[in-house]
Amino acid sequence: MRHSTTIRSDRIPLYPKHVFIHTLIGMDVSAADLIAARPSLSADTHDGLLFEGVSLAAVAAANGTPCWVYGAGTIRRRFRRLRAAMPKTAIHYAMKANDHLAILALLAAEGAGADVVSGGEFLRARAAGIQAERIVFSGVGKTPAELAMAIDHRIGQINVESAEELYELSAIASARGGEARVALRVNPDVDAGTHDKISTGRAGDKFGIPAADIEALYAEGAGLPGIRMRGLAVHIGSQIGRMAPFATAYAKIAALVRALRANGLAVESVDCGGGLGIPYCDEPAGLPEAWAGAMTTAFAGLDLHLAIEPGRWLVGPAGILLASVVRTRTAGMPRPMVVLDAAMNDLARPAMYGAWHGILPVSAQLLAAAAAETDIVGPVCESADIFARSRLLAPLAPKALVAILDAGAYGSVMSSTYNARPLAAQVLVDASLPDAGFVVIRARQATDALWDTDIMPARSAL
Ligand code: LLP
Repeated sequence: MRHSTTIRSDRIPLYPKHVFIHTLIGMDVSAADLIAARPSLSADTHDGLLFEGVSLAAVAAANGTPCWVYGAGTIRRRFRRLRAAMPKTAIHYAMKANDHLAILALLAAEGAGADVVSGGEFLRARAAGIQAERIVFSGVGKTPAELAMAIDHRIGQINVESAEELYELSAIASARGGEARVALRVNPDVDAGTHDKISTGRAGDKFGIPAADIEALYAEGAGLPGIRMRGLAVHIGSQIGRMAPFATAYAKIAALVRALRANGLAVESVDCGGGLGIPYCDEPAGLPEAWAGAMTTAFAGLDLHLAIEPGRWLVGPAGILLASVVRTRTAGMPRPMVVLDAAMNDLARPAMYGAWHGILPVSAQLLAAAAAETDIVGPVCESADIFARSRLLAPLAPKALVAILDAGAYGSVMSSTYNARPLAAQVLVDASLPDAGFVVIRARQATDALWDTDIMPARSAL
């Protein structure tokens, strides 16, 4: 085992006023603090930044950049902590966060089912070996074909988001001689206190059925052919650090469960959704134990099967986007500008939500160097292609490697090939692997694969 050291900086972090509001600007956390807060990271005096003990410089040397790096140990550790916090709750991993087969299989081996939002995700989960009974199907726009496929495969549960969907599902299930196990997704009209674009539980958001309509629809569903009503579901948003919105939403669901049972209806389960946040900068960590506490308090004495659909909390801190510096610009700039070979087409979150991601140099020398305010941008021809503004970073020269942190959730899954940029390689770090401790789990997309599926129309005689 190599000697690891934590590199200290004198800089006092300037904490943001509103920690729940993501921003590219105005939050400085030292390299030492970023490393100290992440058990998966360490700084080696010789090899620089290590991820689960593996040299990121070695990963970049073997695979080039940009490159996603995932930590199997981190995912397992996080799953086990969640499991320990709520031993009886079914965990359906929200695979939209990161749907690589290797990650799905790893989580399935730990005991996770899956939360899916499309036929494609359903088949992907099946391809990773997740049993259909362990899969829950959410989403506002399930097509008739997707519903039919789910019924034919005897999926565990369908979270129905509207009266129209329930009627359609009943017709499809009974026509196929199947039975759909249904939960009604409630819109509890609760503001999760998160970014507007990832808030899903307010009245007027496109998700779920208004609480006021639940009693009538549940009773109706119980009498529909091809439908077996199992319970209720709720998901109020993502990247939630405070427990109060969860507690408010769950209290509303518990009240509905009581009301339904008082009406003589059977309610056996509640799906409590996902949404537990992670500290990208210095936001409060969403604690599984506190989340479990919110559920226990709300549903005490109700004798329900509880389930959750976490995505980000499980895999977000388990991923890094490794990039290289292409060029630096100083002339005429308010501060140095560093252009990376990674861009918004790889990691869309900063451009899309103004999301803050920690950025660290990889070399030992740069980790120890004095930091100065720097803008970090990608090469895509969009002004939004900025990873960070005025970020404190060591002086980065061309070819220097950087690690963009906490990119395991909603990272590679949201990548595009915009500007004809091939999808980046993906690597899994796992201490149980021989030799280098890492393995390629998706090769970098070949450039000519970008136009492989284009079809040239037949040319006219002209
Ligand atoms: N269940 C449902 C029905 C969902 O819609 C979601 C996420 C989850 C579970 C998982 O939520 P999580 O535990 O990961 O917070 N692209 C955005 C996040 C979008 C979340 C969409 N729904 C981002 O990068 O922040």
